[in-house]
Amino acid sequence: MRAFGERLATRLQVGDWVAVDGPLGAGKTVLCAGILHGLGFTGEVSSPSYAIVHSYDPPEVSIAVAHADLYRLNNVGELEELGLAEERSGRITLVEWAERSGPGYTKPSHHISINPKNDGTREVIMKMDTHDASN
Ligand SMILES: Nc1ncnc2c1ncn2[C@@H]1O[C@H](COP(=O)(O)OP(=O)(O)OP(=O)(O)O)[C@@H](O)[C@H]1O
Ligand SMILES: [Mg+2]
Repeated sequence: MRAFGERLATRLQVGDWVAVDGPLGAGKTVLCAGILHGLGFTGEVSSPSYAIVHSYDPPEVSIAVAHADLYRLNNVGELEELGLAEERSGRITLVEWAERSGPGYTKPSHHISINPKNDGTREVIMKMDTHDASN
């Protein structure tokens, strides 16, 4: 999951919105950590579950990143207060538990679903915006 994130990072652009869904412990944070490492971050990536959003800025990353976890979000008003959509154009936004924002909040450029299988492997389904399809 981490290696997948690192490889995906090379294809991400400023303004991209990566929605990551999957059950508890699926590997969403590990995937986001891989993306951050792929963008040059060398520190330890912790889950933003309590702060809801962790921000990373150059020079620690090549492109600014907001890493959010909506698991503890109580209502849509709280989501609006975070201002994630407004800030979208200036950075890459990674959103764990994106499904909690409800449909139509903002259109992801990438949507990743992680499905843990009984044998311990993970099935990963990624849908990308058409403008990225040629990458
Ligand atoms: N492909 C994988 N195969 C096996 N274990 C994995 C894989 N990816 C991640 N894990 C392990 O699963 C555990 C949980 O991962 P992680 O914290 O990233 O899950 P999460 O989806 O972010 O969970 P949460 O919903 O609590 O935010 C970690 O211990 C991680 O090492
Ligand atoms: Mg997590």
